[in-house]
Amino acid sequence: MAAQTEVTIKYLGPKGDGVGQTTRGRIYVEGGLPGDVLRVRPWRAEDDIVRGEIQGIITPSPERIKPPCKHYDQCGGCTLQHASPDFYRHWKQGIVYDALEKQGLRPRKVLEPVFLDGGKRRRATFACVKRGDRITMGYYKRRSDHITDIDTCLVVDPAILKLRDRLKTLLLPVLKDGRPTDVFIQYAGGVYDMVITGGIGKKGEPDLQMREALATLAREGKIARIGWRGRERDPIEVMIESEAPTITFGEMRVPLPPAAFLQPTPEGEKALVDGVMALMPERKGHYADLFSGCGTFAGSMLARGSVDAYESVDPAIKSMVKAKGALPLKAFKRDLFKNPLRRDEANRYDAIVFDPPRAGAREQCAELAKCRVPLLIAVSCNPATFARDARVLCDGGYRLDTVKVVDQFTWSHHVELVASFTRK
Ligand SMILES: C[S@@+](CC[C@H](N)C(=O)[O-])C[C@H]1O[C@@H](n2cnc3c(N)ncnc32)[C@H](O)[C@@H]1O
Repeated sequence: MAAQTEVTIKYLGPKGDGVGQTTRGRIYVEGGLPGDVLRVRPWRAEDDIVRGEIQGIITPSPERIKPPCKHYDQCGGCTLQHASPDFYRHWKQGIVYDALEKQGLRPRKVLEPVFLDGGKRRRATFACVKRGDRITMGYYKRRSDHITDIDTCLVVDPAILKLRDRLKTLLLPVLKDGRPTDVFIQYAGGVYDMVITGGIGKKGEPDLQMREALATLAREGKIARIGWRGRERDPIEVMIESEAPTITFGEMRVPLPPAAFLQPTPEGEKALVDGVMALMPERKGHYADLFSGCGTFAGSMLARGSVDAYESVDPAIKSMVKAKGALPLKAFKRDLFKNPLRRDEANRYDAIVFDPPRAGAREQCAELAKCRVPLLIAVSCNPATFARDARVLCDGGYRLDTVKVVDQFTWSHHVELVASFTRK
């Protein structure tokens, strides 16, 4: 590959990289913005895509600003701090509406988008490595195994940063030397919930001595619960629990399982729940919340009648079953990819809310497309799979009425939305 080349950035790719054209074809440049003329070093990445590393800015894009965070160039947490707020907002909305346009869809009404500031993220996973008496704790640089030690972060809740600072010392007796370990922290309901993923202690798993070290860590770090697992796919073993973290969703007070899925910010959760509730019928009815997690939407939907919540993760179901109050809620464990709600089951509901993972709800939407539920409300964190599934619903006779963009993943390429469909 050529040592260096000049490239003009034309647009942003789906992950926020600047995209330009060279004589050899398309090039993706991390940190590039439309209008930039850059000197880049091209290289072919493992995915066979030609990427360029910026060596110099010949002419800056008019949208280029000084990134607000001092770690931005080294830390892989954020991707778009170098873009002006106006450009950034326009681009984020474009991700949603371009994905719909590719499927030949346009909502009848575009609702006012919500953009949230940084500093509110209540969950974060820090990559950690201990070398001797020093712990590096931060985020992986993009496409690298280099961990940037961050002492500030404009994205996460300051309460999480405060604990991170303490953990740099408190984790010393726990981590295995030279072995990268992930530490997940969730700050919800005013308490810390932490999960360590990776080998700990001399043997790589918690022995008696390690359990004592974790008890000290929980006490001194004021951490309500500490869980551990060897690998990401292993079940979480609760090591210490002085207080079960709980959260309130509308009418429900729910005990949270370790590393429970929560919307990343309380404000984002409120924007999504408000978005859903503004679309829900006012009259009392019988409703379903699919891919319910621990009941983020179901809790508020209870104000409008009875709710059936469907979710594949067992601990989430159990926490809804244990929720406080005489609630007209039923929670069902069900894999909606393998066993989606069938047409006859779906038709029992006056409205259905669904909020699938990033892969979307292909199988479920194929069934919903055949049903006659008057109102479907979708929440999505992936505009591409949402647009694909929306196409299926519209081909089945639904109409895409409204779309509302919610951006709580500030400065990243991720964006969420709430949308509604009614029968034509
Ligand atoms: C984006 S989260 C939304 C959770 C919840 N609605 C909330 O806002 O907190 C997606 C949820 O779908 C669940 N899920 C993933 N695959 C599933 C499947 N095949 N069947 C049912 N639920 C699934 C996940 O466990 C997760 O709780």
